Amino acid sequence: MMFPRPLVAAIFDLDGVLVDTAKAHYRAWKRLADELSIPFDEKANEALKGIDRTRSLEIVLSAGTRLFNPTERAALAGRKNAWYRAEIAELTPADLFQGAREVLCTLRKAGLGIALASASRNAPLLLDRLAITDIFDAIIDPASIQQGKPAPDIFLAAARALSAPPGECLGIEDSVAGIQAIKSAGMAALGIGDPAMLTQADRTIDHISQFRLTDFVSPWGSQP
Ligand code: BG6
Ligand code: MG
Repeated sequence: MMFPRPLVAAIFDLDGVLVDTAKAHYRAWKRLADELSIPFDEKANEALKGIDRTRSLEIVLSAGTRLFNPTERAALAGRKNAWYRAEIAELTPADLFQGAREVLCTLRKAGLGIALASASRNAPLLLDRLAITDIFDAIIDPASIQQGKPAPDIFLAAARALSAPPGECLGIEDSVAGIQAIKSAGMAALGIGDPAMLTQADRTIDHISQFRLTDFVSPWGSQP
């Protein structure tokens, strides 16, 4: 896809885009589901990608028959989060996906604004473990957002924080909900993953290391 207008900003998801934590989220949900004898597998997990913790728990529990009151639900979400946090506490900058730092640096050098639009409340901790906090011009706090993905809110908030018109932003996502959010925000969407899954994406690549800024350069050369 050639970009119709100059690209001024790139807005990134984190889990599954810059680092392999989508799998850590899956393992923690799977552990919880197994303990509760609720069926859950990688296919079911696709529906959780990009979705906040509370809503994700509702989706996991909906495959079972037992009802939980709000206090019990909070405790279950807390247990999942504790397992997840124990996993990410071990991460180091070497765990960034291969090529991820280079992509962020290339975008910076090209003068683009860079923002993070992750649904994860653990994103600041993760960025810190990976030593990439300073690369971002804006990090949107999901707690400040009214409606989570697939609503466009978090991507629009990122564009606002960068003073970038949404039509000149590229969103980068590995989840169906995230790609939907980017498109609803009126942005170009780069999917990381299976094109058969991420059907709304303007372009799909397997891995962040395949990202080339020139793929989004307009033919008349308004981009570096
Ligand atoms: C998203 C993940 O990035 O963050 C979801 O794709 C996760 O799987 C969501 O549920 C919320 O994360 P957290 O760390 O706040 O529980
Ligand atoms: Mg993701």
